[in-house]
Amino acid sequence: MNTSEFVKELNNQFFNGELSTQFQDKLQQLPIDRPDVFAFVQKMFALMNKSGMPAKDLSLLHADIMGTLLARILPGAWEGRVPPITVHGRHSVIDQYIKKNHWNSSEGKSLLDIGCGFPPVTTIESANFLSDWKVTGADPSLPAYLIYDEEENYATLDENKSTVYFQPAIPSIEYWNKLLNNSTATKKRFENLLEELLNHPNNEGFPRLEIHPIKKYETEKLSFIKGGIGQIDIETKDVIRCFNVLYYFDNNFLENALKWFAENTNEGGIVLIGGDWAASTECYYNIYKKNDIQLINKEFAFSLDCICPLSIVTWYAVHDDDRQKAELVKYISIIRKDKYFMDEFYTFHDAQRLKYKICPRDKEGYYGVIDPSIKPQELWALGSKLLTELNDAGFNQKAADVLRNAGFRTRVNEVGHIAVEPSSTFSS
Ligand SMILES: C[S@@+](CC[C@H](N)C(=O)[O-])C[C@H]1O[C@@H](n2cnc3c(N)ncnc32)[C@H](O)[C@@H]1O
Repeated sequence: MNTSEFVKELNNQFFNGELSTQFQDKLQQLPIDRPDVFAFVQKMFALMNKSGMPAKDLSLLHADIMGTLLARILPGAWEGRVPPITVHGRHSVIDQYIKKNHWNSSEGKSLLDIGCGFPPVTTIESANFLSDWKVTGADPSLPAYLIYDEEENYATLDENKSTVYFQPAIPSIEYWNKLLNNSTATKKRFENLLEELLNHPNNEGFPRLEIHPIKKYETEKLSFIKGGIGQIDIETKDVIRCFNVLYYFDNNFLENALKWFAENTNEGGIVLIGGDWAASTECYYNIYKKNDIQLINKEFAFSLDCICPLSIVTWYAVHDDDRQKAELVKYISIIRKDKYFMDEFYTFHDAQRLKYKICPRDKEGYYGVIDPSIKPQELWALGSKLLTELNDAGFNQKAADVLRNAGFRTRVNEVGHIAVEPSSTFSS
């Protein structure tokens, strides 16, 4: 099947043939040589469909992200490895939640951030915010070498001096494309630059080389270990956070991960698993509490913007049996079916999009493009602002009420997320 046929079929199957022509045109950029990308997009469309997303709520930014960025960030672009992508400020609201939440009753203040990514910017931010905690970051792909080129794009390389991952200084679609148009050449360029910098070290400015770069982030309160879930020996912790990791794996992996988390959490401590995009937008997570050697699932929580997201984490699932995504989509679909709520939501939210020039509706009613004067670094901060405004206007509480009326026990939690009480347990 070629790309046009694929897009046409998706449109008919999941959107009643109502996707805009512009949206479909942008999807023509999907790389035909990447069946993993096609399969992923199909799964995303199925989740959108389940969540009750109409074609008009898909923006041209979504189409750009799907058409170009997605192929760059899926494991298929990195020989099947999960890329260590992370973003400044991504978990700031989760850090606040760890500080404020009422579930944690263990005495200590130790946190494991497993699958912390590299550079471990979110772990460092957590250590700064939770300043009286001991924080440990762990990840199987902590590199032996880190190189910045003259434009401050960076690459990580392993002990064999092979490029594992690279990322543009500004991770926008345009800058990604510059590096990824010929990814083999980019990898080779970084490998050559490594040899050059090993022979002629450069201590100032760019290009720059760091050997065993994780060391420089370590402090008395912050340490790092190379290794993943089930692979490292650690003292038990009061909090384990595993974010933007498990959506790459199937349910069997998740079940085993929960067992390992249970073994490595102190009695009364908590485990947070989930994901989010930049600036803590599109946030969703389960909170487990260790009680009598078991992890008890206390809540599933999500940020309101998941019902009409600017980006794609809401539907980001590599496997069909991703149960967190299934749960998220279930709640979104219930909220979206409430016409009274949605009418009020659209009135407020569409006015926000117009005001901040972030994908406002076009003449036909489809969400469109971002104003080109908005810099990539500003976009997600604005996305977070939209979410704060929605919460301040009480839409998180209203959405929680919709779910309550549908029979769920809900609350708005300490950080403004809609939290739903579930019932399931995992034993260590
Ligand atoms: C997308 S990054 C997420 C980084 C960071 N936690 C964040 O939320 O921004 C996913 C990370 O999961 C790591 N990973 C892959 N397999 C893992 C495993 N078995 N256990 C723990 N982490 C793993 C990858 O190396 C990668 O750094």
